[in-house]
Amino acid sequence: MWEGGERRRFSPGIRMKLFGFLLPLVFLLIVTVAYAVTEITEFALRRDLLQRGAAISRVVALSAGYSLLSGDRLALDRLAAETRASAPDIVFVAIRDVSDVVVAHDRISEHGKPFSAPESSSPRGIFAETRADEVTRDGRNLIEYTTPIAFAGKRVGTVALALSTEGLSVAQRSLRRRIVATSAVILGIAFFGTLVLASLITTPVKRLHEAVLSLGTAETFRPIPVRISDELGDLTRNFNRMAETILSQKAGLREQARRLEEAYISMVRVIAASLDARDPYTLGHSTRVAKLSCELGRRLGMDEEELMHLERAAIFHDLGKIQTPDDVLLKEDRLTRAEVEQMRSHPADGTDILRMAPFLQRYIPVVRAHHEWYNGDGYPDGTKGAEIPPHAQIISLADAFDAMTTDRPYREALSTEEALEEILRFKGTQFSPELAEEFARMVRELPPMDEATLKSMAL
Ligand SMILES: [Fe+2]
Repeated sequence: MWEGGERRRFSPGIRMKLFGFLLPLVFLLIVTVAYAVTEITEFALRRDLLQRGAAISRVVALSAGYSLLSGDRLALDRLAAETRASAPDIVFVAIRDVSDVVVAHDRISEHGKPFSAPESSSPRGIFAETRADEVTRDGRNLIEYTTPIAFAGKRVGTVALALSTEGLSVAQRSLRRRIVATSAVILGIAFFGTLVLASLITTPVKRLHEAVLSLGTAETFRPIPVRISDELGDLTRNFNRMAETILSQKAGLREQARRLEEAYISMVRVIAASLDARDPYTLGHSTRVAKLSCELGRRLGMDEEELMHLERAAIFHDLGKIQTPDDVLLKEDRLTRAEVEQMRSHPADGTDILRMAPFLQRYIPVVRAHHEWYNGDGYPDGTKGAEIPPHAQIISLADAFDAMTTDRPYREALSTEEALEEILRFKGTQFSPELAEEFARMVRELPPMDEATLKSMAL
């Protein structure tokens, strides 16, 4: 998008940047904590399972020693069956003799068989004299505990007890589901919390940013409300004070510039009036040209500011004549070619004078062009039609009309109607046809200018 001739690239605001920075950080933190909680809890569950199975196996081993030595198979079977029934996750309980032949089992069919090896096995720890292995039997994952049976310091057999890991898996899945659900809720809260936090931090900064932007063009300043008492609050308070100082100084500077401009304008008005007064025939000329120009400008719908500039340009239009020598300016006889050239240099001379003051430079194009003709036959640049500034076209009409309706050394003044006929005769050549028509209509509607009016317009 083009703004002020400069392409603006999309740039996220400070709120979005803060939000974009904080949210991944919070997300990472929550995921890390959830992962750590899951790992610790699962480790605890697994350790509890291992320790519980080892404890049961040890109790069975302690209970089985005497019965095994005395050959009381019935007691051993009952021990195996009761142990098997004591917890739902116990898969089997087997008591083997030193030859690894099963002498008691919760399943009678296993009696007398060699204790079979698992399909796969990996050690999971040793708890006192009990060893725990994770094994696979008949496609099921089990934790198998092996505890030696000792009697009077002599090993007489082995207890093998297996626990199912399904309960552990179920507990782990349930745990993970709860952790994921809790994490999602915390993430949602963190999302809105981060949004609110980013907003809380950046709103005062955003207000400051908008205030700084508006300070360049604003005439008045409404202090930013301060609702916080931290560094941002102090910054806002200081900004409010600074903005008020800047605006007050700006207003002072504007007023000084206006006064300076007025002083310049007044000075040039005096110069223009003095210039008119050099020649008794042109006394009050600039003022009359200004009045007629403004009258036409008003009819054309110009606002007050534009009329002010038109009036000033009209007052200044012949300023360059200050450089025209008296013997040329006041000469009553016909001018020589060189003298005509000297007279014709006054629009350019006027612009040189206006160029010296920055406030007056805006009038340069109009002053330079006030002797240009609509058809391009004028001077000094030979511009034509719409190339000639509208204010210059208006002043040209008023200038010609005033020159014709005042006495000159070489001729008497024309009447108003005669002068208007001349103007209309030159429409399309010297003057814009539309402006010439409008000027004639205007003058015909104006009250006749008597001697007193002319005198009152002289200075
Ligand atoms: Fe002139």
